[in-house]
Amino acid sequence: MSVLRVSVRRGDVWQAFEVPRHESQTVLDVVTHIQRHLDPTLAYRYACRVGMCGSCAMTVNGAPRWTCRTHVDKVAKEGRLEISPLRNLPVIRDLVADMREFFDKWARAKGQFKGERKRSDDCARVSPDSEKRIFADASIECIGCAVCYSACDVVAWNPEYLGPAALNRAWTLLNDERDTQQAARLRAVAGDAGCLSCHTHMSCTDRCPKALSPTAGIAGLKRATLKAALRGDL
Ligand code: SF4
Ligand code: SF4
Ligand code: FES
Repeated sequence: MSVLRVSVRRGDVWQAFEVPRHESQTVLDVVTHIQRHLDPTLAYRYACRVGMCGSCAMTVNGAPRWTCRTHVDKVAKEGRLEISPLRNLPVIRDLVADMREFFDKWARAKGQFKGERKRSDDCARVSPDSEKRIFADASIECIGCAVCYSACDVVAWNPEYLGPAALNRAWTLLNDERDTQQAARLRAVAGDAGCLSCHTHMSCTDRCPKALSPTAGIAGLKRATLKAALRGDL
């Protein structure tokens, strides 16, 4: 049976393991094998194993990925894998990134929906053909996995930058006609840490496992903040 040589980042050191190869083996299978058979102290995170939750995201041979959706055959180079936690986030332990900062930035970008209707009110009717609805539909499927955030060089240079996921979320809600905090949201994303810091590198869009385009959303935010500034609303 052939063997995969795996280096796993644990704090400041890389630990080497040899893992048997299998057909259709995913990177998450490899990490699970290490933890179950070679070193039970290895910490990592996953939940669904079918590409729905995003919690298994790690850096694999230099790129952020959902490990449960990444086949070893596609990423192993000469039978070798390097696995480390997501970049741009603090590490709790081994392969487990601390997501607090990531979700704090969602909150800073006004990423929570706030409507004004009550349970007793009729449902809001938003036309599927409206421009805003089309924009919102294109960006709403984000599941907060932080792959894009980990891929973004601007986050690496400027830790205050809100990053692609929070800005994509702000764009989604800016296009939600029912939301009531649009002026505050525009102010939140217009500052130095907001959409104007994006260099349009596209790494977030290239890497998003849901095929979303935070870059397009950020471009929309740039247009919206510029219009608001011209109106004197910022
Ligand atoms: S935009 Fe894509 S990569 Fe970024 S957090 Fe959402 S689902 Fe993950
Ligand atoms: S397009 Fe903007 S947010 Fe996306 S990776 Fe590049 S700099 Fe970061
Ligand atoms: S474990 Fe849920 S997406 Fe990988």
